[in-house]
Formats: sequence, structure tokens, C-alpha cells
Amino acid sequence: MSELKNKKILLVITGGIAAYKSLELIRLLKKKGSLVKTILSKNAHKFVTPLSVSSLSQEKVYSDLFDPTSEAEMDHISLSRWADIILIAPATANTLSKISNANADDLASTVLLAADKEFFIAPAMNVRMWENKSNKNNVSILKNMGHEFIGPDIGDMACGEYGEGKMTEPPEILKHLEAKFKELKNNNGLKALVTAGPTKEFIDPVRYITNKSSGKQGYEIANLLKRSGFNTTLISGPTQLDSIKGVNTININSAKEMFDAVIENLPVDVAIFSAAVADFKVKDISETKIKNKENYNLSLEKNIDILKHVSNHNSLRPKLVIGFSAETNDIIENSQKKINEKNCDWLIANDVSNQEIGFDSDFNEVSILYKNGEIEKISKDKKSVIANKIVKKIVSNLE
Ligand code: CTP
Repeated sequence: MSELKNKKILLVITGGIAAYKSLELIRLLKKKGSLVKTILSKNAHKFVTPLSVSSLSQEKVYSDLFDPTSEAEMDHISLSRWADIILIAPATANTLSKISNANADDLASTVLLAADKEFFIAPAMNVRMWENKSNKNNVSILKNMGHEFIGPDIGDMACGEYGEGKMTEPPEILKHLEAKFKELKNNNGLKALVTAGPTKEFIDPVRYITNKSSGKQGYEIANLLKRSGFNTTLISGPTQLDSIKGVNTININSAKEMFDAVIENLPVDVAIFSAAVADFKVKDISETKIKNKENYNLSLEKNIDILKHVSNHNSLRPKLVIGFSAETNDIIENSQKKINEKNCDWLIANDVSNQEIGFDSDFNEVSILYKNGEIEKISKDKKSVIANKIVKKIVSNLE
């Protein structure tokens, strides 16, 4: 049975030449047993007719924000609540601009602005429009908001040019949606825990020891685990990052607080320790601000190693334990020692000496070391892309 059977799909069709493909998309979705409601944007009417859309979907087509009968039947808030998923196909550059900038001037954009779930977006536009810097910024905003892009594909365009910007063919879009539903079903009930960011070890009420970790890589991983259907807990040191909708986030300062939060949130199926935990804490934290003087000796003591503790726990050890390894030199050699010392299943090693990757950058380049000695390199890419690859590996490992 198809994963799409009885799924409620809200299809938003916007005004591009590729809108004709959305008719085929509706036909295929109906064949799989999906329930399809459609919204036509103002401009979509110039490419497909409400009659052809409603004939195929066997449902009324919604398009007018101020239509009293539609609003009485199913208003713009209920439409998005009704849906299991919201698919925008085709999504024009204008639509991407509107939804990334909260501009609502017709029913389609109003429903999307009021939606309580992430969208699947199948863009379609001329290659230059796709590559335009403003459009790229909009795409990046939407990706950061957790929306998922399907395509666009590369090929000949209706305008005669060639390049990236074609709407993905309907059978491919269907495959993507089916895979997503399958993943959500398989991972339903699985729990994940992620640590991220730096820790702060206080010296006195106003001073502390910390490090340059931004938390970006861990947040990306937590976000993708949640989107893959995991019940996800993120234990975060102090960062500048926005909290992630749907991820249970616990904010902590010190390594000790991180340790306590981790233990409280076990057991889980997979734990990813991406936090840059301070190895040492201050022995006697001063209750008052330390006064300026000639000399001051800071006395430090070791923090508990959270990853090592969890990896070696008899009853609470997750099925899959993943550590990170921040190194400035002899990255693989040092990480090989670390994976054995820490007894984790995988260790993701990254070079934190390079300003362009690692700490505080949007990019990363990592090597995954496995317990059996294998090493797999993931070349330089955005942290979101690296996270995607790591989460895919986690999902297939747990399968
Ligand atoms: N880690 C931890 N608790 C600590 C120290 C580290 O859980 N007290 C975890 C990190 O989250 C990471 C892994 O251990 O997953 C390796 O951390 P890293 O800082 O790279 O190495 P260290 O063990 O601190 O060793 P070193 O600083 O000597 O490289």
C-alpha cells in the first residue's frame, strides 16, 4: 500500500508555466489514494483553470480570500490545519519572496503565512531567476525555517534557455513524498538526544571560561532528526541561535548542568554529542566579583566527560552513540585515539583551526570514524548539508 493512501495533501499552485504539471501531480496523488485540496494563487488562474483542477481533485478549488462561501466552509486557517502536508508546486520566485517575507496578498500566501507546518516546495522558474542573489537569499531563509525543497531540476526551459529551474517531474515529487511519509512512520517513537554549543564555566558572578563553538552543527542535526520523525531533545549551551520548533530544548550553562540534563533525558535510541564541553571547571567559584590584584591563580579541576560516561553506562547507553572531535592538528590520528577512549560508535572529526570551517562558520568538513576502523570523509559543505548526510546515516543505521 502506498504511503500516500488517505494522506491529506494541500496543494498550492502558483502562477508559472509549470502549473500544467500540477494537473498531472493531482492525478497521480489521487491514484495513490490521497485526499487533495487545492489553492490557486491569483496568477495561477492564467495557467490552469479551476474547473480542470477541481475535476481532477474531485474537490472544490480555493482561491479567493474574500469569498464568504469558502471562508464559511473552510477558512484560511482551517485549510492548513486540515492538511497532513502542504505542497507548493510550482513555486514561483514571487511566491518564494512572499513566503520568506511574510507578505500575504491573496488566499495562497495568507494560508501559507498562517500555516502551522513546514512546506514541501517545488520551485519552477528561469535559471537566471533561480540563481538571482535575492532569490537565493529567500531560498536560504525558507530552508532555515525548516521548509523542504524538491528540486528544481536542470534542463531545457519553456523560455528556451537551459539550466537549473525546472519543476521536478510529478512522479519524482510523489517518490519524495512517499519516502518522507515512510521515514516518519519508521522513526515514529524513536528518541534522539543532541548536545550542542559551548559550556560556560563561571569564575565569579561576572566572569567565565568558554569557547568559540556556535552550536550551528548540533542545531542543524537536531532540526533534521525532528523532521525525520524523531522525538528530539536538544541540550544546548549558550548560543545565539533561534530555538527550533518541535525540538524539546533545554538551555544550560556549565558542563555539570549539561551532564545532569543528559542523564535526566535518557534513555534514547541515539545520542549525538556535538557540544564543545569545557574540559575543566573552576575549583572554587567566587561568590563575589574577584578584585583586581597583582596576581591571581585560577585553580581548575576536571569536568566529567559526558560522552564517555554515557558510552560506558550499563543500562542507559543508547543503541547509537556519536561523538564529535574538535582538533587543530593530527585530526585523524587524535580522533582514532578518542573513539577508543570514549567508547562511542562513531566519532565525527573536524578541523577547528581553519576559520572557514568548524567553529562559528556556516560550513564544515568532517570525517566520520567508525568503531570498526573505517573512515568516511564528507567534503566541505554547508552545515545543513553535512547534518542531512549524518542524519541519513543515523536513520539507515537504526533501521
Ligand atoms: N565531551 C563530553 N564531555 C566532556 C568533554 C567532551 O561529552 N567533558 C564530548 C564532546 O561533546 C565531544 C567529544 O567528547 O563529542 C570530544 O570532545 P573534544 O573536545 O573534541 O575532545 P576532548 O575529549 O575534550 O579531548 P581534547 O580536548 O584533548 O581534544
